Amino acid sequence: MRFHILTLFPDMIRQGLEASMIGRAVDKGLIRLNMVNIRDFTREKHGRVDDYTYGGGAGMLMQAQPVFDAWKSICKVVGEARTVYVTPQGEPFTQAKVRELAGEKELIILCGHYEGIDERVLEETVTDRISIGDYILTGGELAAMVIVDAVSRLIPGVLGNEASADMESFHGDLLEYPQYSRPEIWNGKKVPEVLLSGDHRRVEQWRLEQAKERTAAVRPDLYAKYEAKQALIQRLARDKRNHIHITESLKGGRGEILYEKEERLLVADREAGVCMLLCGNGGRTGEARALADEDGSKLTELLSAAPEQTEWYVVIQEQLVNELLARGFRIWGKCSQYVYTQGQVLPVRLKEIRRLTLADLEYVCAHYHQEGKEYLEERIRAGVMYGAFEDGRQIGFIGTHKEGAMGMLYVEEGYRRQGVGRALLSYNINRLLEQGRTPYGHVLAGNSASESLLEGMGLYKAGRPVWWMQKKACNH
Ligand code: ADE
Repeated sequence: MRFHILTLFPDMIRQGLEASMIGRAVDKGLIRLNMVNIRDFTREKHGRVDDYTYGGGAGMLMQAQPVFDAWKSICKVVGEARTVYVTPQGEPFTQAKVRELAGEKELIILCGHYEGIDERVLEETVTDRISIGDYILTGGELAAMVIVDAVSRLIPGVLGNEASADMESFHGDLLEYPQYSRPEIWNGKKVPEVLLSGDHRRVEQWRLEQAKERTAAVRPDLYAKYEAKQALIQRLARDKRNHIHITESLKGGRGEILYEKEERLLVADREAGVCMLLCGNGGRTGEARALADEDGSKLTELLSAAPEQTEWYVVIQEQLVNELLARGFRIWGKCSQYVYTQGQVLPVRLKEIRRLTLADLEYVCAHYHQEGKEYLEERIRAGVMYGAFEDGRQIGFIGTHKEGAMGMLYVEEGYRRQGVGRALLSYNINRLLEQGRTPYGHVLAGNSASESLLEGMGLYKAGRPVWWMQKKACNH
């Protein structure tokens, strides 16, 4: 990922970032920083970039022309990339926004100074206005550094292999629980007994309770969100198989409830660019009630809650599919949803299975065409792709998609029907179980080989199909 930072103080940002893990990520080529000094683009003598504000008032304003020309100089190279203006007047910077921005290849960040920037150039260039908090800094540089740091953390490889963002804490919506290291007693204070017990279930339970207590005390707003999600998860769990894609997204802390009204629901995973829609969850009568919408305005309201960059709409109700088709959406594929609910670790009957590295990317790209190279590379970097090997030679692979479904299963022609696919799936399921997930996957309708493999392994098929839909033309 490449950050382009438009600023009057490039050295401040460069020096501030290079001393941290971000500096190492730059050295490793995982991210790139392109500093653009707005002052280099002024046409005024003495390098001036500011002037008085029309209508009066204290302070100076950054003028439109140098900002616009500096921005254009970047666009000439990378095209019209997403452009964030850091300002106290922006939307609050949250982890959801961090995830969303982490999906960009090129990101421009514009730092203001003085009393701000002429509104006309902001209208011409800016796609997002972001505030890092309800206070006012002397300039946008610190805010830009905060964004670069938080977004870079999510770029696979930046935190190191063992701390992949995909495997992050399960309690995504809560504040972190307290942690302890050696010695066992310090300053007369003992590490909580449960952490020394070696009982992972008790440790997890204790951590969750602590996280809840902390969040409720310090951030009642976050806690309310957490409780709303928990309530929805419980409600949807009554029909677990049909709703697994939504509940897993919510449990993992990636799914956000963006709309919930009169049994109409929209949950978004911004980073994956996926929105999951549901109308009524009380059986068919509830569905009919939630879809009763004579002039279509309720559905319009629901759809308008989707983030702008949503690429995928996932639907499990045929009537809703028809409504979307009538609005110009298209069906990419109709799938069956399979869920592994037993929770037992599965035997893996193949010796050579390991996590893939970038050295394996070419093989994966050559044999999997549903996704582009960029996506597959990101999945490998995220540490969620596994390969099967025979005498060191790769013969197949599997992985977990961004939104959480298992998939991308491939076994070489000469090795099919010999248990390789089963071993890969078992291996992937075991890794997901370790993370406290409920493994699930979508199989394109008609792929009977995959369906019988999953059924044979004890995965249950949901009663409803899953439609993957898109608003614009499919580019696969
Ligand atoms: N520039 C000045 N104050 C800021 C803030 N709180 N967030 C983002 N940019 C800023």
